[in-house]
Amino acid sequence: MDADLQRVSRVDELDEGVPFGVELKNGEQICLVKVDREIFAISNICSHAEFPLSDGEMVDDYVIECGLHGAQFDIRDGGVIELPATEPLCCYEVRVEDGEVWVRSNTV
Ligand code: FES
Repeated sequence: MDADLQRVSRVDELDEGVPFGVELKNGEQICLVKVDREIFAISNICSHAEFPLSDGEMVDDYVIECGLHGAQFDIRDGGVIELPATEPLCCYEVRVEDGEVWVRSNTV
């Protein structure tokens, strides 16, 4: 496993379709979502007013809704689906190995 990747969770800690917030060593806030046994990682900071997306919910297979004002994002690419957010979210590379979830920081 290369040095830029950080272990953030075990696969079995993630429930299907339930957002799960984790933090990288450098303070980056990440929201993990497992969908159909694939794991996606996006910024956990809503681009509208910085509410944690892990406190929101999945409203479609790949669509997360912010719990504060209802913006929606595609967890596959961070794209905005629904206002009031207008800026996409950062996405993070995810690796799974031996039941562990690893995420690559975007700022290393
Ligand atoms: S903080 Fe997420 S929609 Fe406003």
